[in-house]
Amino acid sequence: MYKRQAQDRRDLFNKAIETKQQIEWIDKLNKEGKYSYIMRRFYPIFINNIFHYVIGYGVDISELKKTQYQLHLLNSNLEEKIRERTTELINSENKLKISLRTEIKLNKLKSKFISTTSHEFRTPLSAINFAAGFIKKYWTKMSPAIMEQKINRVEEQVAHMVVLLDDVLLVGKGDAGEIKNNPTHINFGNFIYEIMEEVYYSCQKSHEIELIDPRELKNSAILIDEKLGRNIFINLLSNAIKFSPNAKKITIELSSEKEETIIVVTDFGIGIPKSELTNIFTPFIRGKNVDLIQGTGLGLSIVKAAVNAIGGKIIVTSIINNGSSFIVKLPKKYKSCTKQSFRGLL
Ligand SMILES: Nc1ncnc2c1ncn2[C@@H]1O[C@H](COP(=O)(O)OP(=O)(O)OP(=O)(O)O)[C@@H](O)[C@H]1O
Ligand SMILES: [Mg+2]
Repeated sequence: MYKRQAQDRRDLFNKAIETKQQIEWIDKLNKEGKYSYIMRRFYPIFINNIFHYVIGYGVDISELKKTQYQLHLLNSNLEEKIRERTTELINSENKLKISLRTEIKLNKLKSKFISTTSHEFRTPLSAINFAAGFIKKYWTKMSPAIMEQKINRVEEQVAHMVVLLDDVLLVGKGDAGEIKNNPTHINFGNFIYEIMEEVYYSCQKSHEIELIDPRELKNSAILIDEKLGRNIFINLLSNAIKFSPNAKKITIELSSEKEETIIVVTDFGIGIPKSELTNIFTPFIRGKNVDLIQGTGLGLSIVKAAVNAIGGKIIVTSIINNGSSFIVKLPKKYKSCTKQSFRGLL
């Protein structure tokens, strides 16, 4: 080791003479596990271009090295901190952007809510007003049957307004990620048949509802929040019937993939214009081709909020004047119930 160092030094000495240049290097010495750094220099002296001697010296620069190393550490720490702060800044900027977007969306929803509900409430309110006026004027002369009829009318109109308000509240909850998902195992067939029957009768048996179930999934269990599931499929089946006034039937098809249960509701009705396919899940937005078909434009936003809460997906395909299919994909399993992984589902 020392031999090599001595040889190296001799070489450097000769190099300084040859090149007529100062040669500088740093020796790293290990003394009982403690390192020290010595900066050494060979400085050749030439007088009248004739070599005379070499000045050689060494300076202990260990302290300098230590300071340099600490500076280097400090720099890397600083860089790391800057990186962290920049990421934090970007994250908070993104969060701000998201809350701004939500705020804009909520504001739009509010104004749309005010204009739609004030319009939607006008009819029931004037019906209530009319019934109240009638009772006030004729109550001494009214038969109990007529009185009951008028009061029933008031109750019906109030119920209609309550449904509308509940729908709006549910959409609001969906936007705020506050819809609770409590899945339980239920019989798939019972679940679907009950919904089919309910819609069939509430639509005055206007359409046949055909169940397509080639794999007999109706005999299996499905893991779903029953209330949310009912909300989804009652809305989809009612829409399918409502928006296909000239057809006689709609279908509901069950299938299954490895991780998802798939339920497709298909009708052969008016269809949805291509340009409106992405908007129909927004509250109060209705297709331009609905003509006189009644509605507030809230059903699909409730469906979307419920599908999101379940952690599923909904896709729509439609051909104008030909029909539409709403494809709902529901997860077969739910991730472990940590608040993080269930964001938007609680
Ligand atoms: N099966 C369908 N066929 C054709 N258009 C549809 C169908 N389902 C939904 N749409 C279009 O999407 C719009 C939004 O649907 P959504 O269910 O939210 O509202 P709606 O049925 O008009 O009113 P509501 O459900 O509040 O009674 C509808 O107005 C219609 O233009
Ligand atoms: Mg609807």
